[in-house]
Amino acid sequence: MKKRENWSWRGAFVFAVLGSAVGLGNAWRFPYMVAQNGGGAFLIPYIFALLTAGIPLMMLEFGIGHKFLGAPPIAYRRANKKLEMVGWWGNAASFVIITYYGVVLAWAINYLVHALTLAWGDDTTGFFLNFLRVSEGPHILGGLNVPVLIAFVIGWIMVIAIIRSGVTGLGKVVVFTAIAPVILLIILSIRGITLEGALAGLDYYLSPNFAALADLTVWRDAYSQVFFSLSLGMGVLIAYASYLPRDAELSNNVFIASLADAGIAFLAGLAIFSTVGYMAAQQGAAVADVAGSGGIGLAFMVFPQVINLLPGAAAFGVIFFLLLITLAIDSQFSLVEGCVGAVMDKWNLSRGTALAIVSLPGFLIGLVFVTNGGLHWLDIVDKFVNGYGLIVVGLVECIAIGWIIGPQKIRDHVNGLSEIKVGKWFDFCVKYLTPAALIFILVFNLIIDIKEPYGGYPQWALNVGWAMVILLPIVAFIFSKLKTAKEADEFVEEQS
Ligand code: TRP
Repeated sequence: MKKRENWSWRGAFVFAVLGSAVGLGNAWRFPYMVAQNGGGAFLIPYIFALLTAGIPLMMLEFGIGHKFLGAPPIAYRRANKKLEMVGWWGNAASFVIITYYGVVLAWAINYLVHALTLAWGDDTTGFFLNFLRVSEGPHILGGLNVPVLIAFVIGWIMVIAIIRSGVTGLGKVVVFTAIAPVILLIILSIRGITLEGALAGLDYYLSPNFAALADLTVWRDAYSQVFFSLSLGMGVLIAYASYLPRDAELSNNVFIASLADAGIAFLAGLAIFSTVGYMAAQQGAAVADVAGSGGIGLAFMVFPQVINLLPGAAAFGVIFFLLLITLAIDSQFSLVEGCVGAVMDKWNLSRGTALAIVSLPGFLIGLVFVTNGGLHWLDIVDKFVNGYGLIVVGLVECIAIGWIIGPQKIRDHVNGLSEIKVGKWFDFCVKYLTPAALIFILVFNLIIDIKEPYGGYPQWALNVGWAMVILLPIVAFIFSKLKTAKEADEFVEEQS
């Protein structure tokens, strides 16, 4: 067997996991999820989801990747031949995210250029809608949006360049891309909190709304946000853990990574909602209305506002969007890397070939989201892949590990290496608690969607979302049946 590439230094792994976890999910998706769910109503289910699904699943993925030493499909295959498909399923879901994540990245690249002249002016909301030239509905695609297209191409070139350099290269980029954004978010939060009206915004964000706990959508969104934000169910963590040295600590990395990720999302929320409070005060509108009207573009409407109000606004804006871009890029390359690793391991292909196999279709499909109707499709695809696709993968992972492979095998492996020992709670979570929570969420989800079409979109458009969710396991199944390179099966369990 080829020697497996390794992380270049110890800390690189935590940073890489953080780099993959901390991304647009924290700065862009988390705030708009909070806003869509009525502010403070969201935090409690979010924390609940983090504890019941986020942490156990992260531990599980680290454990599998490290024990069985492979990208997801191969790691699962080594655990049990019949389970290879589980790995591909996650890869298929991450491939869907790759297609639209690059587009949000492209928005950020455009905003970097706009920051030079503070082109967004005072009406940052109007600017965003105008910038995307959003069509009336998903039935009108219109043409490609040229500035976004250019940025989309640039983004892909950067991602490909980074991945070509291999895992050792990743270790270096991630340190910077994981730390710097946090500092900027702190500055933005401080400026935001000192604005007039900020308190109303913070109140909206932080005061728990217990009545809202009865609303099923809030729970659904909390779980899907945890999956998205911690990069769960997509195999990245499995792939990353497989590059760890044989004696690496696993369990403390899980806690560091999951709590830091939640903390950074929370910080982004502080910056956003204090500024939303300010915007509401300026417009004489209610905080909930300003927050709720932003939708998927909320972050792009609100961050520019607070940037306007900083000394040296243009310079600050440039730095901020540069960092948002780095934040997004390391997530995007780890998504791509997860798929590249799977393809490489399965067929024993070179990195370059595998990269081409993944990125070319990823790029082409992504073009849909670059059209004027793209925002609607992004909304639909994002909701379906996270609300169903990933949650099903998480459930399947629990069943595979909890009931077929055996959670104590993973736990023993982790405990053999780590200072912080994982207790029996882990087995309980993987076998019962997490799957039960995920099944509830899926059922809730179905009920909500049957009652009321998501986002007021026409049924045919939502059916595209359904088709995609159903296609994921089918593609995964086909891939798992394709012939595997014999190298992938020559695995001797060398540790413990
Ligand atoms: N967690 C990333 C974010 O918060 C997005 C993401 C989801 C991701 N799945 C991933 C990143 C897989 C890397 C790998 O933005």
